[in-house]
Amino acid sequence: MLPCAMTIEKMHSPVDALWDWSYEIEQKRVEELYSKAKRDQWDADVALDWSIPIDPGGKILDAERMAFLKLQFFRKLDARQLETFNAHYSAWILSQLLHGEQGALMVAGELVAAVPDYEAKLYVASQAMDEARHVEVFGRYIRALDKIYPAQPTLKEILRDILETEYWQAKMVGMQVILEGLALGTFLNVRAATACPLLRALLGYVSRDEARHVAFGSIYLTSEIARMHADDRAAVEDFSCETMKKTVAMRRGTEAMAGFEEVLIDSGLDPADFVSALHAEVAAGFKLSATPGNVHTVRSLVMPGIVRAGLVSDRVRPKYEAAGIKLFADTSILEEFEDSGEVRAS
Ligand SMILES: [Fe+2]
Ligand SMILES: [Fe+2]
Repeated sequence: MLPCAMTIEKMHSPVDALWDWSYEIEQKRVEELYSKAKRDQWDADVALDWSIPIDPGGKILDAERMAFLKLQFFRKLDARQLETFNAHYSAWILSQLLHGEQGALMVAGELVAAVPDYEAKLYVASQAMDEARHVEVFGRYIRALDKIYPAQPTLKEILRDILETEYWQAKMVGMQVILEGLALGTFLNVRAATACPLLRALLGYVSRDEARHVAFGSIYLTSEIARMHADDRAAVEDFSCETMKKTVAMRRGTEAMAGFEEVLIDSGLDPADFVSALHAEVAAGFKLSATPGNVHTVRSLVMPGIVRAGLVSDRVRPKYEAAGIKLFADTSILEEFEDSGEVRAS
């Protein structure tokens, strides 16, 4: 257990609290989503069978479906080493989801105060409960598997940006559209890639909650962004673009690997050996290609959400282009997920 000073970190959030004294429901679809959220609450103690053993040597993540594990460096390990690595690597990935869930919990809590409309406050309160459950289940699962790894530095920076922005609309985009969109892709892909029945069941429940969260973004955020003063909307557009740049960086290259040394060391592997093997393999043509059947997270879930929210104006478009971020706008997979909580394999 770390000393308290290392486990508590303060970030300053400057959002205002708004009262809605009317108690009137103006947006029927938000109320419907709140009703659905109340109906579909679940208790992790009851819904999930925690007696299912979590086998750290079993396939928490299936190497065949994780592009990264196709590196020769991992292929050369013996079965025991690979199992040890697989357990730590899975815990590391799941830990990043856990930290994102804590962010989602705190932002949902803040949004209860920050959103102006009565029915949106009720809905966001239900989302805070959903996120509390997600923090609970990921925390329980990771501790049973291994240990909780620290947040990747870029993830933490994004979480800080989201907590510290003065615009609640920017918090909603950063958390609900970008980070949760990213997490959702990981939930769906890990669920397809795991041989652990408890993790698969857990991700199934979490994904169904997330379908409501994505739907709320579509129903409420889009109209609220349209209602903003042009200057404020421009600030939210810029925030979204900057957060996307960090998000893309976090998924690639050296930033994606930050914190990974700890996984290697815990697995009895030498980070220096790994780095030199990686350089040699990349020089020889190894590419982290998308795994067939996986959801393309940025293309199908995150970017279409930003475009749909009305945050890619002619003013900000060149900034995305300069950063090499493609403006995917096809919302079909996003909508399919909102409706059903599932996506078909692409
Ligand atoms: Fe969540
Ligand atoms: Fe969520």
